[in-house]
Amino acid sequence: PTPGQVLPDQPDVKIINRQISGYVGFANLPKQWHRRSIKNGFSLNLLCVGKAGIGKTTMINSLFNESFDAAAKDGGIIPEQPLDIAMENDDEAANGADEGAPATVRIETTSRTIEENGVTLKLTVVDAPGFGDAINNTNAWDPIVKEINSRYDQFLDAENKINRNLSDDNRIHACLYFIEPTGHWLKPLDLEFCAVIHEKCNLIPVIAKSDILTDDEITLFKERISQQFAERGIQTFKPPVYKLDDKETVEVANKLYSSMPYAVVGSNDFVRDPANPDVTVRGREYPWGVIAVENESQSDFMLLRDLLIKQYLEELHERTNNVLYEKYRSEKLINLGIKQDNSVFREFDPNMRQEEEKKLHEAKLSKLEAEMKNVFQQKVSEKEKKLQKSETELFARHKEMKDKLTKQLKALEEKKRQLEMSIQSQAQSSPAQPKKKGFLRG
Ligand code: GTP
Repeated sequence: PTPGQVLPDQPDVKIINRQISGYVGFANLPKQWHRRSIKNGFSLNLLCVGKAGIGKTTMINSLFNESFDAAAKDGGIIPEQPLDIAMENDDEAANGADEGAPATVRIETTSRTIEENGVTLKLTVVDAPGFGDAINNTNAWDPIVKEINSRYDQFLDAENKINRNLSDDNRIHACLYFIEPTGHWLKPLDLEFCAVIHEKCNLIPVIAKSDILTDDEITLFKERISQQFAERGIQTFKPPVYKLDDKETVEVANKLYSSMPYAVVGSNDFVRDPANPDVTVRGREYPWGVIAVENESQSDFMLLRDLLIKQYLEELHERTNNVLYEKYRSEKLINLGIKQDNSVFREFDPNMRQEEEKKLHEAKLSKLEAEMKNVFQQKVSEKEKKLQKSETELFARHKEMKDKLTKQLKALEEKKRQLEMSIQSQAQSSPAQPKKKGFLRG
């Protein structure tokens, strides 16, 4: 049927639920699913945002029991640079054209496949170095939002191709936002960032380095953060509860949600476990004792790991696909002038699909053109500034030389005058002596 076509009256459909007496085999489906999942592996694209030195790398190392620092050394880093940054790195920028420019937020991506009991997880960590480090952090989140959008665009492109390959899902599945452990209130930058990002990806806020706060301070800080989030309408990721979930699962989901933001502690070191001195555990050693990262009474680290990996990885994917990406996709199509229609028809209408593809392509081209124009104009104005600067310098140098030469000329003329005067006075004082041929006159 085409959109708008009136369907003939359908007969009443009765759905009958029946228990099958013989064994058909679909009870085996979960096993098939399990086998397929093991074969394909899992993936998690995690965005980590927070100030430099707040403990992001340490937290990722602790969460996945990996060393993500080492990834840079063994070539695990896949740097991905947005267009404008790549353009900044040319020779002129290297020659200092950017001196004095404000610190910019960059996007760095590290990918790694990790394995546990035969199950593989392709983990991609997207870091945003430079976030919150400038004096003026207005719109510091722009490059991050651009990155999320470009990953959505990539997926949308792949979806619209005739030969679809959706196995490479680069969309961001969750954002770990690292809050400074001030124990006070959230800063405007924290709030602005979370307000923008919670609509783009699953937001999971954490209070970093929470070992510097007391339990009471953590409780109060969490309350304040929740209050500030509620006032701004910021929604953190909520583990879904399904009808068939048992009481225990519902309790776990509620606890995971109500404990946010998680007060976490990370460490790259292994220390002796105070509870069992024969064993070493990931932790931090202080003069007054040891904090074991995985000790549930000392931090919320295990809650974060449960949510992110153990219990709700699939739900993070699902919400990304069904809610966040879907919202992005429909907004994009609406902006392009394509009305959201009955999605059943949309799937099967080749004309409409072609139209969508065409519009998307045109929008992409004009975006690229605008970006290139922008970069070109930037380059031209940089060049002009440089030329102006060297012209001024040249003029100043010319003037300086001219002044110097004028001074020298004046000094020489003065000297000449004095010499002439002294010769004259000598000639007057001894008139009998024969005249010598003066070099000044000769
Ligand atoms: P950049 O890569 O510069 O953005 O830093 P980062 O945010 O990745 O921080 P990183 O993990 O390198 O940690 C910075 C310092 O903080 C290191 O000395 C860590 O040992 C320390 N650190 C990390 N996590 C914790 C924590 O939970 N508690 C305390 N007290 N220190 C921590």
